[in-house]
Amino acid sequence: MGNHLGFVTSGAFLIIFAAALIALQIVNGLQATTRPQHDKVVVCYVSSWAIYRPGNGRFGFDELQAEHCTHLVYAFAGLNASTSSIRSIDPWADLEEGGAKGGYKRMTELRNKHPGLKVTIAIGGWNEGSANYSELAASPQRRQTFVNSAVDFVRKYNFDGLDLDWEFPTQRGGAPHDKENFVLLAKDLSTAFRSRGLLLTAALGAGIATINAAYDVARLSEYLDYIHVMAYDYHGAWNMKVLSNAPLGRAADQLSVEDSIQHLLKLGAPRRKLVLGLPTYGRTFVLTSLLSGANDSPIGAEAMSTGFQGPYTRENGFMGYNEICSELVKEKNGWRTGWDKASGTAWAVKGDKAITFDNPNSMMMKADYAAEMKLAGVMVWSIDTDDFLGTCANINAEKLDPLLGLDYPLMRSINFALSRAPSSHDSNDNLVPDDVEPPIPDSGLQASLSSVILIISLVSSLC
Ligand SMILES: *[C@@H]1O[C@H](CO)[C@@H](O)[C@H](O)[C@H]1NC(C)=O
Ligand SMILES: *[C@@H]1O[C@H](CO)[C@@H](O)[C@H](O)[C@H]1NC(C)=O
Repeated sequence: MGNHLGFVTSGAFLIIFAAALIALQIVNGLQATTRPQHDKVVVCYVSSWAIYRPGNGRFGFDELQAEHCTHLVYAFAGLNASTSSIRSIDPWADLEEGGAKGGYKRMTELRNKHPGLKVTIAIGGWNEGSANYSELAASPQRRQTFVNSAVDFVRKYNFDGLDLDWEFPTQRGGAPHDKENFVLLAKDLSTAFRSRGLLLTAALGAGIATINAAYDVARLSEYLDYIHVMAYDYHGAWNMKVLSNAPLGRAADQLSVEDSIQHLLKLGAPRRKLVLGLPTYGRTFVLTSLLSGANDSPIGAEAMSTGFQGPYTRENGFMGYNEICSELVKEKNGWRTGWDKASGTAWAVKGDKAITFDNPNSMMMKADYAAEMKLAGVMVWSIDTDDFLGTCANINAEKLDPLLGLDYPLMRSINFALSRAPSSHDSNDNLVPDDVEPPIPDSGLQASLSSVILIISLVSSLC
């Protein structure tokens, strides 16, 4: 009888144990579909104007798959210079009143489906210029008015924080004292934001000359939670030469990802705050004369001062990865493609047109580099020009797990590379010591841990 009871007990134990395993799998599976499976940050900028792109280029909230990101940044809000306050640039896209599209609400609501996701609002961007920010930052009173408006705005629209995209202090109508005043602006903001548990980040230009002129990196680092390094636009049609948009390895002209990151580290940026920016777009060029050799690389060839447009983004000299790969997917459509070893990026050429761009391979190399350098993670500008519909699955299929999906090849490649990198918790060697608090475990992990503990205590009470 005792034996029989023992058999029943161990049988019950096995069944409950199996149930516990299944429960854990379900919770893990749920997490796998709601967030990246690694401990690096993946900051995804979203261009709010991507909803106005035609055809398959249109990117709205139904297309935004936030499981590829740990942070979303809504780009952009603007500055009302007469009131020194943050404002919606496009109320119809951003707000809800009068049947508008409610972009702010739709983006922040994604947190319900993606536990742990952070959603912030970026202020600035190229079109906002620099002069109004320069004047704002120069006045302590106006800075304080701005800080108050930013806190109210972030709370009103339920964002987790603010991202500063002033392009660029000291340049484009800015003044030499911007370098100091940008630090003071960040300091004033951080005082208000930290005490309220809000995030403060900034996107910094990556050229060595811009960094030296515009940023007091060590002091900025004290006030910012993350530094998003815009490690792209190193070259473009303005060079009148075909060159890589975002070369990885050190370059003679110092215009490369490695040159930028090493320079920022040397200036005192803490690794755990540095976020490497990756472009989901390429730069386009019109050659001044056709390449002579049938196997020639276009890199270094002379080009016109203006590049051509893509059908969705319709901006000279710029082409989204989704636009590029749609061109290449139909048996290359006349394009000849290749890999530029020196820059670690891809190219395509057809007649007098050339494109330099990042593909899944170069994205993985850059994500590997960010992990090797023990940076906080990576950022993408911007998720809306990845192949979010999976229309180029043919050319990326060998890189992607068809069971996981064939859309978002760049985001998937980035997250794949980061998830095979050693955990950053394994080491603790930041160059600059600082007063960081330990990361808060995300609620998904807490839920799975507590369900396991519950089941284990059930099992032990039965046995
Ligand atoms: C700035 O704010 C003022 C006062 O609310 C408003 O009248 C004006 O239209 C705003 N300007 C812009 C550019 O939003
Ligand atoms: C700067 O502020 C002025 C005054 O509000 C405004 O008219 C101008 O459009 C702003 N500049 C930019 C680039 O937004």
